[in-house]
Amino acid sequence: MLTVRTIAALRARRQELWRSGHTVAFVPTMGALHEGHLALVERGRELADEVWVSIFVNPTQFAAGEDFTRYPRDEERDGRLLAERGVALLFAPDVKEIYPRPGVITLDAPPLTGGLCGAHRGGHFQGVLLVVAKLFNIVQPEVAVFGAKDYQQALLIRRLVDDLCFPVRLEIVPTVREADGLAMSSRNAYLDPQQRLAATVLHRALAAAAAQAQTGERSGAALEAAIAAVVAGEPAVTLQYAAAVDPETLQPQPNIARRVLLAAAVVVGSARLIDNILVEVQ
Ligand code: PAJ
Repeated sequence: MLTVRTIAALRARRQELWRSGHTVAFVPTMGALHEGHLALVERGRELADEVWVSIFVNPTQFAAGEDFTRYPRDEERDGRLLAERGVALLFAPDVKEIYPRPGVITLDAPPLTGGLCGAHRGGHFQGVLLVVAKLFNIVQPEVAVFGAKDYQQALLIRRLVDDLCFPVRLEIVPTVREADGLAMSSRNAYLDPQQRLAATVLHRALAAAAAQAQTGERSGAALEAAIAAVVAGEPAVTLQYAAAVDPETLQPQPNIARRVLLAAAVVVGSARLIDNILVEVQ
């Protein structure tokens, strides 16, 4: 596996691939890799000749007071995992390479950025859109792979690609979970054993609401209340939001017609965790 830290070095390798007619599947990450990230890599291997991964803890997507400085970083371990999975190139730039000077260009997609996580993380999705646009222009992949765990992010990147005509195909991989249902996340590393156990309530709450939707509950408010009620049963976990929204617009759905996105965020100790389930109703 080739590790590159500069845009120039990456572009030199990209030129070689174009000359040989080989395609690239790109998996952007912030590192602290787990099986969720590696599932994206595996999918990328099926879609292109080479898989390229970036590890970049993007400062612009962390709100003031969030965990940018203590976000887990272990490039040596990550590099080993990626090499084992056959990744051809790791792009691990420092902040100065991606943000050489204070930026003036901004990207936003209201109202898709305003709700759910956007309502609780000021500037987060604007930072995600900016860094993903930069990374797409740097790597110029044929395919880019994202996870369904970050549903709102994946939806925003779909709009970024469609609206700004990025010549990249998007692939979304289902959420990879621990045996007890907890969605894999780099932030699970913040949990002590008791908090780790308590954190399972997030998926249990969403699954309970999904079961209600599948057995006839059509009120979005009732589904949101069902999520909140299950979370409330776990005193170590605080609910940040519970939402039953239209999967395309992310707007509240008073009456569910066909599909509903159930999404929630909780705080457990110092970790903020998110999860979602997309339900097709009969
Ligand atoms: P990060 O949280 O490292 O996630 C990188 C990719 O892995 C995202 O597409 C995310 O949805 C996916 N992912 C994370 N946990 C997953 C799981 N349990 N199952 C399936 N996929 C999972 O998301 C980011 O980084 C950043 O915002 C980024 C897009 C890299 C921009 O900085």
